[in-house]
Amino acid sequence: MKTIHVNTSHPYNVLIERNSLESCGGYIRSITQASRAAIITDDIVCRLYAQTVVDSLSASGFDCCIFTFPHGEQSKNLTVFGQILDFLCENNITRSDIIIALGGGVVGDITGFSAASYLRGVDFVQIPTTLLAQIDSSVGGKTAIDIKGGKNLVGAFKQPAMVICDSNTLITLSPEILSDGMAEAVKYGMIRDEKLFELIENHNLDTIHEVMDEMIYTCIDIKRDVVEHDEFDRGERMILNFGHTLGHAIEGWYKYTDFTHGMGVAAGMCLITDKLCDSEISGRLKACLKNYSLPTGTDIPMSELLPFCSKDKKRESDSLSYIVCRTIGKAEIVRVTVEEFNKFMED
Ligand SMILES: NC(=O)c1ccc[n+]([C@@H]2O[C@H](COP(=O)([O-])OP(=O)(O)OC[C@H]3O[C@@H](n4cnc5c(N)ncnc54)[C@H](O)[C@@H]3O)[C@@H](O)[C@H]2O)c1
Ligand SMILES: [Zn+2]
Repeated sequence: MKTIHVNTSHPYNVLIERNSLESCGGYIRSITQASRAAIITDDIVCRLYAQTVVDSLSASGFDCCIFTFPHGEQSKNLTVFGQILDFLCENNITRSDIIIALGGGVVGDITGFSAASYLRGVDFVQIPTTLLAQIDSSVGGKTAIDIKGGKNLVGAFKQPAMVICDSNTLITLSPEILSDGMAEAVKYGMIRDEKLFELIENHNLDTIHEVMDEMIYTCIDIKRDVVEHDEFDRGERMILNFGHTLGHAIEGWYKYTDFTHGMGVAAGMCLITDKLCDSEISGRLKACLKNYSLPTGTDIPMSELLPFCSKDKKRESDSLSYIVCRTIGKAEIVRVTVEEFNKFMED
């Protein structure tokens, strides 16, 4: 087993081990005296993995209850959030009990926010089952739900009490969902670690499973380092947004259908790299993304895309920051006015 210690305001460990789902009860017992465990999951993950988790938790003396909601981003809303809170209350979950997020980023985000809100905070454990959730959303303490005005606009910083990554769960992912997570893995290589990038560029969607634990470990360790320096997202954490300004714009242009987040990030990384970096770097980036069936650009005219770039409700709107990697493994944050950004992207 590999362990990463995340030293945030509430420190915790990330455990990376194949088949750890089967022993999760013992690991969770090592951090809590809770008598009850409330598992929150979606219908797909419930069918695949809930029984294994319940068996392990029960063997470690937890009394389990499960709340399941329909899979997909459309469930990350106020209605399901309310249902989760009611479920926790009906099952007499107290502050000394534990909540478990079993699933992808949607489950992790809404469960984390429920755990932050219910009784003003109950400990929760992340058991991420998508690649994106394992290398990105389960670590770092951002939790959220969507409202009509936009994605992730309501949420809280709430670090998990433990994260358990079992890469065996990734075997049941569809190739599209695995690709989606690979875009974030490529991003980590680009911003921080050329060796990681090399590992990824030397594999493809079929062979990446051979080095999955090594890749997951390295990605989480990069996220750990960034989050430890900027837990509450005031500056440095922004480098994790490489490819995301244009990526979000592309996702928005497609109204969050057809183009997934990973596809947006992949295209976004290519657009900015094409614009500002040597052709050798953009060539390597594109070849690598192609190994994972990810897009390397977009046909949307820049003039239609740019209005979506400045629509970030979480920041002031007359300027924006974008990230550029002029060499593989090194990222810079560049702050410009929206006007300057539009001008140089359109040139
Ligand atoms: N909190 C953060 O820091 C952060 C960071 C990045 C993304 N996010 C959020 O994460 C969400 C996206 O996460 P996601 O891509 O994991 O989406 P998701 O949770 O919707 O999972 C994708 C699909 O895979 C299915 N699935 C999950 N695990 C599976 C498995 N092992 N086998 C087969 N199918 C499985 C799910 O049922 C779902 O249909 C978005 O809401 C995004 O905003 C949060
Ligand atoms: Zn992302």
